[in-house]
Amino acid sequence: MIRTKIIGAGHYVPENVVTNHDLAKLITTSDEWIRERSGIEERHFITPGVHNTTSMGTMAARMAIERANLKPEDIDFIIFATLSSDYYFPGPGVMLQRELGIKPTGALDVRNQCSGFIYGLSVADAYIRSGIYKNILLVGSETQSIALDMTDRGRNTAVLFGDGAGAVVLTATENENEGILSTHLYAEGEHADQLCLKMPGTGAHKMIYPEMMDSEDILPIMNGNFVFKNAIARMTEVVLEALAKNNLTTDDIDMLVPHQANLRITQMVQRQLRLPDERAYSNIAKYGNTTAATIPICLSELWEQGRIKPGQLYALVAFGSGFTWGSVLLRW
Ligand code: UT7
Repeated sequence: MIRTKIIGAGHYVPENVVTNHDLAKLITTSDEWIRERSGIEERHFITPGVHNTTSMGTMAARMAIERANLKPEDIDFIIFATLSSDYYFPGPGVMLQRELGIKPTGALDVRNQCSGFIYGLSVADAYIRSGIYKNILLVGSETQSIALDMTDRGRNTAVLFGDGAGAVVLTATENENEGILSTHLYAEGEHADQLCLKMPGTGAHKMIYPEMMDSEDILPIMNGNFVFKNAIARMTEVVLEALAKNNLTTDDIDMLVPHQANLRITQMVQRQLRLPDERAYSNIAKYGNTTAATIPICLSELWEQGRIKPGQLYALVAFGSGFTWGSVLLRW
């Protein structure tokens, strides 16, 4: 039986570090409020013109491919998850392919926001298990900084998000003691407007028109409390579902890698799963929420720290705009 395993992880964040104190110079907020409500201390923002979603994704992908001991020409399929692509179209998968000089092959763009990486893993797993592709490059990369509402109106979202990218290389294994055990995806479109950026889009009479510049629809909006409560419930639920499906319990989890949206959310999920701090990874203090990039950045850091050991059970879980959510259980 073929299974899918991760054989390399990489990440990249831009050099420009923006602290809570820096944000407090632009909007009415404070280091204390941001730390207490979200656990975030700083985030990285691109320098416009120097980096974008594709360029950061490319840096992360190069690191992941190198750590997998492969070359770009060994990649059979590309999956790129983002909500912030460089162009409206085409999507970033082909841009990344161009940057890496990868041979003509499929390049799929995934747009499931904070759950994009989990959705991408699920697609990669299905392709690899069915024998269609062998080596898949999966990237999550986001440029949030240039779309944030840096006024008091947008302060509940402006302080949360950051820029960055993470990537993994997946391959086929016939060892049934390792690899992805199962993936679980969900969406609940009735909550699409609870966390969204409406424009530019085809919902208006024209994609771009002068009056839209005065519309609040060109800025991201979020019903923070509602998203917060749903995130805790859904993330806990979908990890428990994955464990039950594989006849495992929370005691079997060596590391929970949750989407980094808010430290209070991940701590609540961790508590409900009764996992101690050393079995739940967090780096939100340094990067904020980098949407589709949070989980692969965590995996790359764990890789770098030498903390990933063969046989360990990892639970990956995300929740975000859509609403969309999902989990992946995997054994290294
Ligand atoms: O990636 C998945 C998507 N995102 C998330 O999962 C995020 C989910 N939501 C959250 O993380 C939290 O709801 C927030 C961090 C956004 C907000 O925390 P909260 O504890 O839910 O605060 P709140 O929205 O209830 O606001 C409390 C107060 C309000 O003032 P009043 O009405 O009590 O006077 C806000 O206006 O805090 C105010 N506030 C701020 N104050 C200082 C909102 N944003 C800020 C800010 N600085 N940046």
